[in-house]
Amino acid sequence: MISQDELQKTIDDVVDERRGILAADESTGTIAKRFSAIGVESTADTRRAWRSLLLSTPGLGEYISGVILFEETLSQCDDSGRPLPEVAASQGIVPGIKVDKGKGPLSGVPGDLITCGLDGLGERLATYRQQKARFAKWREVYPITTANPTAVGLQANAEMLARYAAVCQEAGFVPIVEPEVLMDGDHDIDRCAEVTEAVLREVFHALHRHGVVFELMLLKPNMVLPGKECRKAAPQEVAETTLRTLRRCVPAAVPSIHFLSGGQGPEEATLNLNAINQLRGNAPWQLSISYGRALQQPALHAWAGKPEHVEAAQQALLKRARLNSLARQGMYDPSLEDEAPG
Ligand code: 13P
Repeated sequence: MISQDELQKTIDDVVDERRGILAADESTGTIAKRFSAIGVESTADTRRAWRSLLLSTPGLGEYISGVILFEETLSQCDDSGRPLPEVAASQGIVPGIKVDKGKGPLSGVPGDLITCGLDGLGERLATYRQQKARFAKWREVYPITTANPTAVGLQANAEMLARYAAVCQEAGFVPIVEPEVLMDGDHDIDRCAEVTEAVLREVFHALHRHGVVFELMLLKPNMVLPGKECRKAAPQEVAETTLRTLRRCVPAAVPSIHFLSGGQGPEEATLNLNAINQLRGNAPWQLSISYGRALQQPALHAWAGKPEHVEAAQQALLKRARLNSLARQGMYDPSLEDEAPG
């Protein structure tokens, strides 16, 4: 039985006209890569230090309503011994949890990928609930080639997202459904639009088949963008193409769409979000963020693993959070980038 009231309360606490979600759920392998770029060894303690820094940033709750955490973080504490999910909650930031176990090849379908982690998900959610997580995230990944994603891949990935989302709602967790069409490659924006549309159609078809309640889920898609090796598109074109694709595929019952940044630079991701919100017209959903790199990158570089840089790093995070909050309302201007951080 789905507890609608509990799920609705989580939606009400996370969906906000000014705020967005911080993705801080990098797996142990991914965070090691991010740390290696700033010369920091990835250990349980450096990961704890970094995530404490993020969650204790003064004022972060003004711009951020939810945070996606990695499993390890749920049981870590700040220096005063307070569990990190509680540190987030004390700022009005709802703690969530990445529940997928990462991607691998989809056997029999060269070039397509599939994410694993469904086995035992219900039991894991029961533990995460005791650790104060209230929503979940699962990511399926779609590389674009001339042959991928295939029809089989589209169906298999959609099925995983739908089964995950159904388990979450039954366990009292709002599912964030994340189908990510990757930016890798030299494809143009039209090809990304074509693939994103095919992906979203298949995902919502599967969610419907599995009885997922659209009003009690969140969507985390890619923006529609040209591949990294193709000429960049202007924010207006990104916004128009993204909105057209979403309008064709996402039911109006879904309350909010939270874009991933997916390899866009921090300022680029803010500029594109701003254009989307300026051109949103009568779009039925909130159009917000669930950025990882685009929120964290400047802060990570400011920190560089040094305790004496914690404040500067928090200022850098707060600046990106604040500017994305403005972009979320279509009120961002690039000249604001020159202001002092924070
Ligand atoms: P990026 O914004 O860095 O793409 O990360 C978002 C995310 O959570 C990917 O799963």
